[in-house]
Amino acid sequence: IFARLIALLVGYLFGNFQTGYLYGKSKGIDIRKHGSGNAGTTNTLRTLGVKAGLITFLGDCFKAVFAILIIKYIFRNQFTDSIKILEMYAGFGTVLGHNFPFYLGFKGGKGIACTAGVILAVCPLATIICLIVFISIVAITRYVSLGSIIMISVFLIQVVVFNHLGMLGIDSSRFSLEFEFDIIAACFTCMGIWRHKANIIRLLSGNENKFAMSKK
Ligand code: G3P
Repeated sequence: IFARLIALLVGYLFGNFQTGYLYGKSKGIDIRKHGSGNAGTTNTLRTLGVKAGLITFLGDCFKAVFAILIIKYIFRNQFTDSIKILEMYAGFGTVLGHNFPFYLGFKGGKGIACTAGVILAVCPLATIICLIVFISIVAITRYVSLGSIIMISVFLIQVVVFNHLGMLGIDSSRFSLEFEFDIIAACFTCMGIWRHKANIIRLLSGNENKFAMSKK
C-alpha cells in the first residue's frame, strides 16, 4: 500500500506541471478561458497554434514518462513481479495531477496526453494501435474528443490482453495482481471518458468542435 501511495503522490506532483496553462501564461492568456476551456493539447493547438500544441503535448506526455521512470528507479530492487502496477499508479497519479491541479483550483485538463505517456512507458506495444486508431478517427471525423475516447478504450482492451498473456511481467500465479492491474487500467479509461462528458453531450447533439487550429 505504501509503495502505491508513493507512486500516486509522485505522479500527482508531476501531473501538476500544466504545460498548456504555463505556455498560455507566457503568452499572457489563461488557456482555460479560451476555446473549449480545457488546459490540454487540443485547446492549446486550437487557441495558440501548432508550436504551442506540440510543446503542450510533449510536456504533458513526458511528465507521465518521467514520473513512471522515477518510480521504477525508486522501487527497482523490490516489486520485481509487479513493478508495472506501481508504474500504472504513478501514471494515474499524473493524470489526477493534470486533471485536478491543486494550485489552479483543481481545474486542469482531460489527461489524454498524460495517458499517451503512460502507454509509451508502461506498455509501448500498445502505442502503435492506439496511435493508428486515434489518427484515423480524427482524420475521418475531425473530432479529437471522439478519437481520444475511442483511443483510451482501445488502450484498456490492449493492456488487459497483454497483461493476461503474461507480456507485462506481472506474476501470473497471483491473480490479485493481474486483476489489480486491470482495475487501474480501467480507471484511466473511466476517468478519460468522464472528463469528456461535455464533449460527449456536444457530439450527441452535433455541436462538437471540429478540429481546426489557430494560424498563430
Ligand atoms: O484531449 C482532449 C481532447 O480530446 C478534447 O479537447 O479541447 O476539444 O475539449 P477539447
